[in-house]
Amino acid sequence: MLLVTFPVLPSVRALIASRRATRFNDTGERLTREALLREAEGCDVLMVTVGDRMDAGTLAALPASVRMIATYSVGYDHVDVVAAKARGIAVFNTPDVLTDATAETAMFLVLGAARRGNESLRLIHSRQWTGWTPVQLPGVQLSGKRMGVVGMGRIGQAIATRAAAFGMEIHYHNRRPLPAAEEAGAKYHAQLDTLLPLSQFLMLACPLTPETHHLLDDERIARLPEGAIVVNIARGNVVKDDALIAALRSGKVRAAGLDVFTNEPHLDARYYDLPSAFILPHIGSSTIEAREGMARILLDAFDAVERGQAVSNRLA
Ligand code: DGY
Repeated sequence: MLLVTFPVLPSVRALIASRRATRFNDTGERLTREALLREAEGCDVLMVTVGDRMDAGTLAALPASVRMIATYSVGYDHVDVVAAKARGIAVFNTPDVLTDATAETAMFLVLGAARRGNESLRLIHSRQWTGWTPVQLPGVQLSGKRMGVVGMGRIGQAIATRAAAFGMEIHYHNRRPLPAAEEAGAKYHAQLDTLLPLSQFLMLACPLTPETHHLLDDERIARLPEGAIVVNIARGNVVKDDALIAALRSGKVRAAGLDVFTNEPHLDARYYDLPSAFILPHIGSSTIEAREGMARILLDAFDAVERGQAVSNRLA
């Protein structure tokens, strides 16, 4: 029996139900830890997602029947993979299938920040717009600008391809340089220190790890060019909110495009009042195509593992 802890699209539900005996969470609410442990009774597979904290304590309390846990997300900072492995539980995530959707959202954030999307929407929806003028809401162009990408994994690379198509020059920082054939002209920086001063647009696309927690703090913001634009498609905790909010208020950072926040959905309320913050409710991978692909890749992984085959999206 498969337990799905979160709401799914009708087409995703049909797909899952066609492949496995499934217990869906139809409560319309996130399962508490206690409810999750209760619902997991008799299940061998769990499909969880961002917001379900699968920490060592929860993993230890799971019924012995659970053999596989899949997170319906590519990010897996909410799953203690080491503890799962120690308990002999296989863990999976959903790479590749949501890369395009997430990269498209990243460009939505870039454009929304650069072209004053928040102020534009506020103006037209207020019904107070008095008509076109040449001084109305001037933004900045992408073409000819440099983008610094932090985290050049699948999503970082897909963003770089799209940004390059807008005429941007791409620089990146990653633990390792990409093979030359995959760089597509992007320039590698072994250190953030050299990437930051040239990042007119800074794109955060790295996983959240102890090393990247609060990676963008006051000191690093100070190294950005004046009026840089910051985009976060990674995880909220990669940014220190106090530092970014101060920089948006001072103009050091011209605008920010943010899809992810610390303590979602209770983001720092100061963002709501900042005209230069173009904010979205974590819709990075939220397309019908991605959502269906995410279910398919996980269902395929369960089947493959049961047949004794290796799968590339297995984390433990
Ligand atoms: C992911 O897949 O990690 C997203 O952030 C959740 O949709």
